[in-house]
Amino acid sequence: MTWYANPSARNWKCDAPSSAVAKFHQSLSNYEYTPLIELPSLAQELGIGRVFVKDESARLNLAAFKVLGASWAVAQALTNAAQPTSLAQVASAIDRSHPPTLVAATDGNHGRAVAHMAKQLGLDCFIVIPRGVSELAINNVRGEGAHVTVLDATYDEAVDAAKAITADLANGIHIQDMSWSGYTDIPEWIIEGYTTLCCEVDEQLREVSAYPADLVAVPVGVGSFLHSVVAHYRSRDDSAASVLSVEPTVADCVLRSLASGELTSVDTGVTIMSGMNCGTPSSDSWPFHQAGVDAAVSLTDEQARSALSALHDLDIDAGPCGAATLAGVRAALSTDERRNALGITSDSVIVLLSTEGRAANPQV
Ligand SMILES: Cc1ncc(COP(=O)(O)O)c(C=O)c1O
Repeated sequence: MTWYANPSARNWKCDAPSSAVAKFHQSLSNYEYTPLIELPSLAQELGIGRVFVKDESARLNLAAFKVLGASWAVAQALTNAAQPTSLAQVASAIDRSHPPTLVAATDGNHGRAVAHMAKQLGLDCFIVIPRGVSELAINNVRGEGAHVTVLDATYDEAVDAAKAITADLANGIHIQDMSWSGYTDIPEWIIEGYTTLCCEVDEQLREVSAYPADLVAVPVGVGSFLHSVVAHYRSRDDSAASVLSVEPTVADCVLRSLASGELTSVDTGVTIMSGMNCGTPSSDSWPFHQAGVDAAVSLTDEQARSALSALHDLDIDAGPCGAATLAGVRAALSTDERRNALGITSDSVIVLLSTEGRAANPQV
Protein backbone atom coordinates (compact mmCIF):
# COMPACT_ATOMS: atom_id res chain seq x y z
CA MET A 1 0.00 0.00 0.00
CA THR A 2 1.55 3.33 -1.07
CA TRP A 3 -1.45 5.67 -1.36
CA TYR A 4 -4.29 6.92 0.83
CA ALA A 5 -6.83 9.71 0.27
CA ASN A 6 -9.43 11.32 2.55
CA PRO A 7 -11.82 13.54 0.53
CA SER A 8 -13.51 14.94 3.65
CA ALA A 9 -10.25 16.29 5.15
CA ARG A 10 -10.58 19.58 3.24
CA ASN A 11 -13.78 20.43 5.09
CA TRP A 12 -12.34 19.80 8.54
CA LYS A 13 -11.50 22.87 10.65
CA CYS A 14 -9.41 23.35 13.79
CA ASP A 15 -8.15 26.20 15.98
CA ALA A 16 -5.09 28.13 14.81
CA PRO A 17 -1.81 27.30 16.59
CA SER A 18 -0.50 30.05 18.92
CA SER A 19 1.26 32.78 16.95
CA ALA A 20 3.42 33.97 19.88
CA VAL A 21 6.46 32.33 18.32
CA ALA A 22 6.78 34.80 15.42
CA LYS A 23 8.35 37.58 17.54
CA PHE A 24 10.79 35.16 19.13
CA HIS A 25 12.02 33.84 15.79
CA GLN A 26 12.33 37.37 14.41
CA SER A 27 14.63 38.23 17.33
CA LEU A 28 17.13 35.45 16.53
CA SER A 29 20.33 36.90 15.09
CA ASN A 30 20.38 35.01 11.77
CA TYR A 31 16.63 34.90 11.22
CA GLU A 32 15.37 35.73 7.76
CA TYR A 33 12.73 34.30 5.45
CA THR A 34 14.03 31.29 3.56
CA PRO A 35 13.50 31.49 -0.23
CA LEU A 36 10.28 30.46 -2.00
CA ILE A 37 11.43 29.64 -5.53
CA GLU A 38 9.20 29.12 -8.56
CA LEU A 39 10.05 26.17 -10.84
CA PRO A 40 8.11 26.53 -14.13
CA SER A 41 9.65 23.44 -15.74
CA LEU A 42 8.25 21.28 -12.94
CA ALA A 43 4.81 22.88 -13.36
CA GLN A 44 4.98 21.88 -17.02
CA GLU A 45 6.11 18.35 -16.18
CA LEU A 46 3.28 17.95 -13.66
CA GLY A 47 0.63 19.57 -15.88
CA ILE A 48 -0.38 22.22 -13.35
CA GLY A 49 -0.31 26.02 -13.06
CA ARG A 50 2.66 26.80 -10.81
CA VAL A 51 5.16 24.97 -8.59
CA PHE A 52 7.09 26.64 -5.78
CA VAL A 53 9.73 25.14 -3.52
CA LYS A 54 10.29 26.45 0.00
CA ASP A 55 14.04 26.01 0.38
CA GLU A 56 15.07 25.43 4.02
CA SER A 57 18.72 24.69 3.23
CA ALA A 58 19.93 27.89 4.88
CA ARG A 59 17.51 28.16 7.82
CA LEU A 60 19.42 29.92 10.63
CA ASN A 61 22.63 28.48 9.13
CA LEU A 62 21.66 24.95 10.24
CA ALA A 63 20.67 23.48 6.83
CA ALA A 64 17.18 22.38 7.93
CA PHE A 65 13.84 23.74 9.18
CA LYS A 66 13.97 21.87 12.50
CA VAL A 67 15.46 24.72 14.53
CA LEU A 68 12.16 26.60 14.18
CA GLY A 69 10.57 24.04 16.50
CA ALA A 70 13.53 23.28 18.76
CA SER A 71 14.30 26.96 19.45
CA TRP A 72 10.74 27.72 20.56
CA ALA A 73 10.42 24.56 22.66
CA VAL A 74 13.70 25.30 24.46
CA ALA A 75 12.66 28.93 24.95
CA GLN A 76 9.29 27.94 26.39
CA ALA A 77 10.69 25.12 28.56
CA LEU A 78 13.34 27.38 30.12
CA THR A 79 10.94 30.25 30.88
CA ASN A 80 8.01 28.25 32.23
CA ALA A 81 6.05 28.97 29.06
CA ALA A 82 6.38 32.76 29.44
CA GLN A 83 6.28 33.21 25.63
CA PRO A 84 9.66 35.00 25.53
CA THR A 85 10.36 37.45 22.74
CA SER A 86 14.16 37.10 22.67
CA LEU A 87 16.94 34.65 23.43
CA ALA A 88 18.34 37.12 25.99
CA GLN A 89 15.08 36.81 27.91
CA VAL A 90 15.48 33.02 27.87
CA ALA A 91 19.12 33.22 29.01
CA SER A 92 18.21 35.47 31.93
CA ALA A 93 15.58 32.98 33.12
CA ILE A 94 18.21 30.24 33.65
CA ASP A 95 19.26 29.52 37.25
CA ARG A 96 23.04 29.26 36.71
CA SER A 97 23.55 27.68 40.16
CA HIS A 98 21.46 24.70 39.02
CA PRO A 99 21.59 24.81 35.20
CA PRO A 100 19.43 22.43 33.18
CA THR A 101 20.88 19.95 30.67
CA LEU A 102 19.08 19.49 27.36
CA VAL A 103 18.54 15.97 25.99
CA ALA A 104 17.10 14.70 22.68
CA ALA A 105 17.06 11.74 20.32
CA THR A 106 17.45 12.55 16.66
CA ASP A 107 17.83 11.39 13.09
CA GLY A 108 20.16 14.38 12.71
CA ASN A 109 18.46 17.72 12.22
CA HIS A 110 16.45 18.01 15.43
CA GLY A 111 19.44 17.04 17.59
CA ARG A 112 21.67 19.54 15.84
CA ALA A 113 19.08 22.25 16.47
CA VAL A 114 18.71 21.36 20.18
CA ALA A 115 22.50 21.23 20.58
CA HIS A 116 22.77 24.60 18.84
CA MET A 117 20.29 26.15 21.27
CA ALA A 118 22.16 24.63 24.24
CA LYS A 119 25.43 26.09 22.97
CA GLN A 120 23.87 29.53 22.51
CA LEU A 121 22.56 29.42 26.06
CA GLY A 122 25.74 27.96 27.60
CA LEU A 123 24.03 24.69 28.61
CA ASP A 124 25.19 21.08 28.50
CA CYS A 125 23.47 18.81 25.97
CA PHE A 126 23.17 15.04 25.38
CA ILE A 127 22.03 13.78 21.98
CA VAL A 128 21.20 10.14 21.13
CA ILE A 129 21.41 9.04 17.47
CA PRO A 130 20.03 5.75 16.07
CA ARG A 131 21.58 3.72 13.23
CA GLY A 132 21.33 4.88 9.62
CA VAL A 133 22.38 8.49 10.21
CA SER A 134 25.29 9.75 8.08
CA GLU A 135 28.69 10.60 9.58
CA LEU A 136 28.26 14.15 8.34
CA ALA A 137 24.93 14.53 10.18
CA ILE A 138 26.49 13.07 13.35
CA ASN A 139 29.44 15.45 13.06
CA ASN A 140 27.04 18.36 12.56
CA VAL A 141 25.59 17.54 16.01
CA ARG A 142 29.06 17.11 17.56
CA GLY A 143 30.05 20.44 16.01
CA GLU A 144 27.46 22.13 18.22
CA GLY A 145 29.32 20.85 21.30
CA ALA A 146 26.85 18.14 22.37
CA HIS A 147 27.75 14.83 24.05
CA VAL A 148 26.71 12.40 21.31
CA THR A 149 25.76 8.73 21.80
CA VAL A 150 25.32 6.69 18.60
CA LEU A 151 23.30 3.50 19.14
CA ASP A 152 22.80 0.45 16.93
CA ALA A 153 19.08 0.91 17.47
CA THR A 154 15.91 2.27 15.86
CA TYR A 155 14.66 5.82 16.26
CA ASP A 156 12.01 4.71 18.79
CA GLU A 157 14.73 2.98 20.85
CA ALA A 158 16.89 6.12 20.69
CA VAL A 159 13.96 8.11 22.10
CA ASP A 160 13.74 5.61 24.98
CA ALA A 161 17.48 6.01 25.60
CA ALA A 162 17.07 9.81 25.70
CA LYS A 163 14.28 9.38 28.28
CA ALA A 164 16.63 7.29 30.45
CA ILE A 165 19.48 9.84 30.19
CA THR A 166 17.08 12.62 31.19
CA ALA A 167 15.85 10.65 34.19
CA ASP A 168 19.46 10.13 35.40
CA LEU A 169 20.37 13.82 35.23
CA ALA A 170 19.88 16.15 38.20
CA ASN A 171 18.13 18.74 36.04
CA GLY A 172 17.60 17.19 32.61
CA ILE A 173 15.01 18.51 30.15
CA HIS A 174 14.01 16.18 27.34
CA ILE A 175 13.37 18.24 24.19
CA GLN A 176 11.73 15.65 21.92
CA ASP A 177 9.84 16.40 18.70
CA MET A 178 7.15 13.79 19.33
CA SER A 179 4.54 13.29 22.03
CA TRP A 180 3.50 10.26 24.03
CA SER A 181 1.18 9.73 26.97
CA GLY A 182 2.17 12.29 29.65
CA TYR A 183 4.68 14.12 27.41
CA THR A 184 2.88 16.78 25.40
CA ASP A 185 3.98 20.37 26.22
CA ILE A 186 7.36 20.32 24.49
CA PRO A 187 6.12 18.68 21.26
CA GLU A 188 3.25 21.17 21.19
CA TRP A 189 5.73 24.07 21.35
CA ILE A 190 7.80 22.43 18.62
CA ILE A 191 4.68 22.27 16.42
CA GLU A 192 3.94 25.95 17.18
CA GLY A 193 7.53 26.77 16.22
CA TYR A 194 7.14 25.17 12.79
CA THR A 195 4.19 27.46 11.97
CA THR A 196 6.64 30.25 11.14
CA LEU A 197 7.48 28.32 7.96
CA CYS A 198 3.86 28.23 6.70
CA CYS A 199 3.30 31.88 7.64
CA GLU A 200 6.33 32.80 5.54
CA VAL A 201 5.05 30.72 2.60
CA ASP A 202 1.63 32.41 2.67
CA GLU A 203 3.15 35.87 2.73
CA GLN A 204 5.72 35.10 0.01
CA LEU A 205 3.04 33.52 -2.17
CA ARG A 206 0.75 36.54 -1.79
CA GLU A 207 3.53 38.70 -3.27
CA VAL A 208 3.81 36.68 -6.47
CA SER A 209 0.51 34.87 -6.98
CA ALA A 210 -3.12 35.94 -7.07
CA TYR A 211 -3.98 32.49 -5.75
CA PRO A 212 -3.01 30.72 -2.54
CA ALA A 213 -1.56 27.20 -2.55
CA ASP A 214 -3.90 24.42 -3.64
CA LEU A 215 -1.62 21.65 -2.39
CA VAL A 216 1.26 21.62 0.09
CA ALA A 217 3.54 18.57 0.20
CA VAL A 218 5.12 17.71 3.57
CA PRO A 219 7.96 15.25 4.39
CA VAL A 220 6.93 13.13 7.38
CA GLY A 221 8.78 11.29 10.13
CA VAL A 222 6.74 11.23 13.37
CA GLY A 223 4.29 13.73 11.82
CA SER A 224 4.81 16.74 14.11
CA PHE A 225 5.63 18.94 11.15
CA LEU A 226 2.65 17.49 9.28
CA HIS A 227 0.47 18.37 12.30
CA SER A 228 1.75 21.95 12.18
CA VAL A 229 1.00 22.29 8.45
CA VAL A 230 -2.47 20.74 8.83
CA ALA A 231 -3.29 23.02 11.78
CA HIS A 232 -2.11 26.03 9.79
CA TYR A 233 -4.19 25.38 6.67
CA ARG A 234 -7.24 23.92 8.39
CA SER A 235 -7.55 26.98 10.64
CA ARG A 236 -7.47 29.66 7.93
CA ASP A 237 -10.26 31.19 5.92
CA ASP A 238 -8.00 32.65 3.21
CA SER A 239 -6.15 29.46 2.26
CA ALA A 240 -7.51 25.93 2.30
CA ALA A 241 -4.64 24.04 0.71
CA SER A 242 -4.82 20.28 0.53
CA VAL A 243 -2.07 18.63 2.54
CA LEU A 244 -0.06 15.70 1.18
CA SER A 245 1.91 13.53 3.62
CA VAL A 246 5.08 12.00 2.14
CA GLU A 247 6.97 9.11 3.82
CA PRO A 248 9.59 6.48 2.95
CA THR A 249 7.99 3.04 2.34
CA VAL A 250 10.33 1.63 4.99
CA ALA A 251 8.94 4.03 7.63
CA ASP A 252 5.33 4.61 6.55
CA CYS A 253 3.79 4.79 10.03
CA VAL A 254 1.45 7.69 9.23
CA LEU A 255 0.20 6.15 5.97
CA ARG A 256 -0.49 2.84 7.73
CA SER A 257 -2.17 4.58 10.64
CA LEU A 258 -4.41 6.52 8.24
CA ALA A 259 -5.26 3.39 6.27
CA SER A 260 -6.07 1.31 9.35
CA GLY A 261 -7.84 4.12 11.24
CA GLU A 262 -5.69 3.75 14.36
CA LEU A 263 -2.24 4.85 15.47
CA THR A 264 0.11 2.15 14.18
CA SER A 265 3.84 1.56 14.66
CA VAL A 266 5.96 -0.03 11.93
CA ASP A 267 9.37 -1.72 11.90
CA THR A 268 11.62 0.74 10.12
CA GLY A 269 14.29 -0.09 7.52
CA VAL A 270 17.11 1.85 5.91
CA THR A 271 16.49 4.91 3.72
CA ILE A 272 18.35 7.89 2.31
CA MET A 273 15.48 9.99 3.76
CA SER A 274 16.96 9.47 7.22
CA GLY A 275 15.18 12.41 8.88
CA MET A 276 11.89 10.68 8.04
CA ASN A 277 12.94 7.24 9.29
CA CYS A 278 10.54 7.01 12.25
CA GLY A 279 8.32 4.08 13.25
CA THR A 280 5.57 5.68 15.35
CA PRO A 281 3.39 8.75 14.75
CA SER A 282 3.43 11.37 17.49
CA SER A 283 0.38 10.59 19.64
CA ASP A 284 -1.01 14.13 19.94
CA SER A 285 -0.51 14.75 16.24
CA TRP A 286 -2.30 11.61 15.11
CA PRO A 287 -5.85 13.06 15.51
CA PHE A 288 -4.79 15.96 13.25
CA HIS A 289 -3.43 13.51 10.67
CA GLN A 290 -6.60 11.47 10.75
CA ALA A 291 -8.96 14.42 10.37
CA GLY A 292 -6.96 16.87 8.27
CA VAL A 293 -4.54 15.06 5.92
CA ASP A 294 -5.99 14.94 2.38
CA ALA A 295 -3.66 12.27 1.02
CA ALA A 296 -0.61 10.26 1.97
CA VAL A 297 1.97 8.60 -0.21
CA SER A 298 5.05 6.47 0.45
CA LEU A 299 8.22 6.40 -1.62
CA THR A 300 11.21 4.26 -2.45
CA ASP A 301 14.71 5.67 -2.26
CA GLU A 302 14.82 5.45 -6.07
CA GLN A 303 11.89 7.85 -6.34
CA ALA A 304 13.56 10.22 -3.87
CA ARG A 305 16.88 10.00 -5.75
CA SER A 306 15.24 10.90 -9.03
CA ALA A 307 13.56 13.94 -7.43
CA LEU A 308 16.87 14.93 -5.84
CA SER A 309 18.63 15.01 -9.18
CA ALA A 310 15.74 16.93 -10.80
CA LEU A 311 15.98 19.60 -8.07
CA HIS A 312 19.78 19.73 -8.22
CA ASP A 313 19.55 20.24 -12.00
CA LEU A 314 17.37 23.26 -11.20
CA ASP A 315 19.97 24.54 -8.71
CA ILE A 316 17.84 23.82 -5.65
CA ASP A 317 19.96 22.76 -2.67
CA ALA A 318 17.73 19.91 -1.45
CA GLY A 319 18.69 16.97 0.74
CA PRO A 320 16.75 13.67 0.51
CA CYS A 321 13.93 14.72 2.90
CA GLY A 322 13.52 17.98 1.03
CA ALA A 323 13.39 16.30 -2.38
CA ALA A 324 10.94 13.69 -1.10
CA THR A 325 8.14 16.23 -1.52
CA LEU A 326 8.73 16.46 -5.27
CA ALA A 327 8.78 12.66 -5.50
CA GLY A 328 5.57 12.57 -3.45
CA VAL A 329 3.81 15.05 -5.71
CA ARG A 330 4.95 13.15 -8.79
CA ALA A 331 3.34 10.01 -7.32
CA ALA A 332 0.23 11.86 -6.13
CA LEU A 333 -0.42 13.36 -9.57
CA SER A 334 0.35 10.19 -11.50
CA THR A 335 -3.29 9.20 -12.19
CA ASP A 336 -6.51 11.12 -12.87
CA GLU A 337 -8.12 9.39 -9.92
CA ARG A 338 -5.46 10.74 -7.54
CA ARG A 339 -5.54 14.21 -9.11
CA ASN A 340 -9.32 14.31 -8.70
CA ALA A 341 -9.07 13.15 -5.10
CA LEU A 342 -6.83 16.16 -4.43
CA GLY A 343 -8.86 18.59 -6.57
CA ILE A 344 -5.82 19.27 -8.79
CA THR A 345 -6.45 21.01 -12.14
CA SER A 346 -4.20 22.50 -14.83
CA ASP A 347 -4.32 25.83 -12.91
CA SER A 348 -3.34 24.47 -9.51
CA VAL A 349 -0.57 26.00 -7.38
CA ILE A 350 1.62 23.50 -5.51
CA VAL A 351 4.17 24.18 -2.78
CA LEU A 352 6.94 21.66 -2.03
CA LEU A 353 8.39 22.01 1.46
CA SER A 354 12.07 21.20 0.97
CA THR A 355 13.00 20.86 4.62
CA GLU A 356 16.76 20.27 4.40
CA GLY A 357 19.73 21.07 2.22
CA ARG A 358 22.57 18.79 1.14
CA ALA A 359 24.71 19.96 4.06
CA ALA A 360 22.21 18.37 6.47
CA ASN A 361 22.26 14.92 4.95
CA PRO A 362 24.40 13.94 1.96
CA GLN A 363 23.19 10.30 1.81
CA VAL A 364 22.39 9.59 -1.82
C1 LIG B 1 14.62 17.43 7.11
C2 LIG B 1 13.44 16.82 7.76
N1 LIG B 1 12.27 16.82 7.09
C3 LIG B 1 11.16 16.30 7.65
C4 LIG B 1 11.19 15.73 8.91
C5 LIG B 1 9.93 15.13 9.48
O1 LIG B 1 9.42 15.84 10.58
P1 LIG B 1 8.50 15.06 11.62
O2 LIG B 1 9.35 14.04 12.31
O3 LIG B 1 7.95 16.10 12.52
O4 LIG B 1 7.45 14.37 10.82
C6 LIG B 1 12.39 15.71 9.63
C7 LIG B 1 12.45 15.15 10.98
O5 LIG B 1 13.45 15.18 11.66
C8 LIG B 1 13.54 16.26 9.04
O6 LIG B 1 14.73 16.28 9.67
